[in-house]
Amino acid sequence: MARILTGIQSTGTPHLGNLLGAIRPAIELAHAPENDSFLFIADLHSLTQVKEGEVLRKNTYATAAAWLAFGLDTDRSVFYRQSDVPEVTQLAWYLNCFFPYQRLTLAHSFKDKADRLEDVNGGLFSYPMLMAADILLYDADFVPVGKDQLQHLEMTRDVANRFNHKMGETFIVPQELTRSETMLIPGLDGAKMSKSKNNILNVFDEPGALKKLINKEIVTDATPLEDPKNPDDAVVWKLYNAMAGEVASQKMADQLRAGGYGWGHAKKELLEAIVDGFATERAAFHRWMDDPGALDAVLAKGAAQAREVAGPVLERVRSKLGY
Ligand code: TRP
Repeated sequence: MARILTGIQSTGTPHLGNLLGAIRPAIELAHAPENDSFLFIADLHSLTQVKEGEVLRKNTYATAAAWLAFGLDTDRSVFYRQSDVPEVTQLAWYLNCFFPYQRLTLAHSFKDKADRLEDVNGGLFSYPMLMAADILLYDADFVPVGKDQLQHLEMTRDVANRFNHKMGETFIVPQELTRSETMLIPGLDGAKMSKSKNNILNVFDEPGALKKLINKEIVTDATPLEDPKNPDDAVVWKLYNAMAGEVASQKMADQLRAGGYGWGHAKKELLEAIVDGFATERAAFHRWMDDPGALDAVLAKGAAQAREVAGPVLERVRSKLGY
């Protein structure tokens, strides 16, 4: 049995790109019978950017509701909120004391902002050590991450090795599982879908709002209705392809190439694919969002399970340190 652990950013309601590209595959991995899995919402990392409690709380709920709506089974996976396990901040401190300042200055999470030092707080600077603590506190074997997190994983391995070397075997040195980027979901403007680019589709929105967005924001060329059209570069077709699967999207491609089938038709089919395809998930998402008490209960159960693992590991570390 391998222990898989990953942290989930909670910057808002997960969008179509997150759902298809990351959440679905992660849930599949978490449910695999050969894996023992830990998934948590990284709301302490969020504090490096967000300072409004209400926003933090809402983002956490929306993230949790989306994972649960997409089928995460908390009987098969330990699902918790990072801030509910305070042991992690303690371990982060210990790790900070074993990691060279110079190496932290090389972290992308910090370096990307280092030209505007007035915007950098100490939390952002030591972000990689909190992430290392997230992982090492649970004796994780594998950590599924996107490519942008590989450097953080490398630092995690580095600090674990340094500690083991100085203090004796203490930590399991984890390996990364790189997510293959097979599903590149374009945003409304054709660039990769991303919250920071303001080009996202929120599949939990009401159908009316989705319709407006798709009709207004997805760019198409001005080819007249009767003329043949090229699906390959069209955002509307690419999104349909990601949603509707091989057979249906091939059919739409043929219709576009044949002429007599307009972008408006394609948009209508895309809307239907999203509205109908995610009807169950949308209903579940809103049920969870209307019942924060139920979300709290689910996350509390996960936190209790997580702390059962975290406590003894932290004790192991403390005894090595002489506390
Ligand atoms: N930093 C990760 C991200 O931005 C989120 C994260 C926090 C994480 N702690 C983690 C991922 C531990 C994997 C393991 O996506």
